[in-house]
Amino acid sequence: MNNIPQNEPDRQNYYRNELSGFIQKQEQLLNRKLTCHIATFGCQMNARDSEKLLGILKAAGFQETEEETAADLVVMNTCTVRDNANKRIYGRLGVLKSFRKSNQHMRIAMCGCMMQEPSVIEKIKKSYPYVDLIFGTHNIYKLAELLFTMYSEDRQVIEILKQADRIVEDLPVERKYPFKSGVNIMFGCDNFCSYCIVPYVRGRERSRKSEEILCEIRKLADSGVREIMLLGQNVNSYGKGLDEKIDFAGLLKETAKIDGIERIRFMTSHPKDLSDDLITVMEENEKVCLHLHLPLQSGSSRILKLMNRKYDKEQYLALTEKIRSRMPSIAITTDIIVGFPTETKEDVDETLDVIRKVRFDNAFTFIYSKRTGTPAANMEQVDEAFVKEQFDRVLQLVQETSKEMTGRFVGETVKVLAEEVNEQDPSLLTGRMEQNFVVHFPGDPSMIGQILSVKLLSCKGFYYIGEPV
Ligand code: 5AD
Ligand code: SF4
Repeated sequence: MNNIPQNEPDRQNYYRNELSGFIQKQEQLLNRKLTCHIATFGCQMNARDSEKLLGILKAAGFQETEEETAADLVVMNTCTVRDNANKRIYGRLGVLKSFRKSNQHMRIAMCGCMMQEPSVIEKIKKSYPYVDLIFGTHNIYKLAELLFTMYSEDRQVIEILKQADRIVEDLPVERKYPFKSGVNIMFGCDNFCSYCIVPYVRGRERSRKSEEILCEIRKLADSGVREIMLLGQNVNSYGKGLDEKIDFAGLLKETAKIDGIERIRFMTSHPKDLSDDLITVMEENEKVCLHLHLPLQSGSSRILKLMNRKYDKEQYLALTEKIRSRMPSIAITTDIIVGFPTETKEDVDETLDVIRKVRFDNAFTFIYSKRTGTPAANMEQVDEAFVKEQFDRVLQLVQETSKEMTGRFVGETVKVLAEEVNEQDPSLLTGRMEQNFVVHFPGDPSMIGQILSVKLLSCKGFYYIGEPV
């Protein structure tokens, strides 16, 4: 046992081999493949983490299956940003109980943001003791080691790290799409918006070295990736704390130099850190998609202050005006929270005013969810029925505005990345414009992964019908 490497990624490569040996033995015994299923909740960050988890599982010998209830290993990669995310996860766990009982080979693993909350771990231990493996957001790279321990010692394994001990590079990844990929540029968040649990479950902000990021993107380009999405909770503060002198605009510029990459997206931008340099890079660089996801959260300066967002209504309006005037065809999308503590009808009127002025191309609206441990949880909460009313007012305006905004490109010929066969009509393909709008158009599967010229014939609310030209 003392020849186990101490350094990463060698240690995980060692455990992947060990796990692989175990899986092969099991397969011989059962005379079939061992299957795995990953259920992913939450954001792009979690989606990317799941690709890493699947990469490790497949490299160890698991075969992916769509059927969660029949899988030998079910991994639930959880989200805890709002309480309804948690509820859904407990619901799924309840459903799995009887399947875990009737299939003696089934193992259930849980990971992701929700697992970083001590109260969740207590609840699982007490009410869902049949969960076999629990790990958090900081040790997904250790999946092979944790699984091997679980199998070889035939026991429940729980390992949660409070903080990331390192960023482990060069582990296997299984991408969902061959032609597009997310790339983490930073982890964690230091903003401490008063409603948000993310800084507590994803830890302090850490940027990856630019050379590691660019090297990963070059490899992705070589393997056929055309579009990348640079991922971070707050990409605009990329580079802080690194020894090298680089910021997000600089990283984008370097990324755009990579041959083979044709489209670059990024997510998420915090309005307080969005620099003029970034606007210039977006303006000057064709590869950088004209789409900015710029969470507003609230249009009321009073609420924004309580939220600790560090900008006010006027600053947000000035910023978006500048962006639209310099890049008129850009799509600006946003997140809005309704029902934050102490929010009044007048505060919501301010939010509606911003929606009217900015004319968001799309907006995700959320009802405020109280997260234990965040400062807002101790503020005066708002009556539920009142919040529902206010939410409906916001939702209605958001839908009207985004419908109008989406329609503005009808008649134009635009570039569309063909992504998949249309789910309803297999003679159509579904793709996305650089503004992230969805387009359905006639085509065959061989065109998937290509960037095509498509004429937009009509707009059906939130998507277009087009034809290749
Ligand atoms: N309640 C409701 N929405 C929230 N978000 C984050 N935390 C909460 C919360 N406690 C929303 C924000 C963020 C998006 C990812 O989720 O709008 O931008
Ligand atoms: Fe993503 Fe936040 Fe949900 Fe974690 S808690 S999955 S970071 S949205």
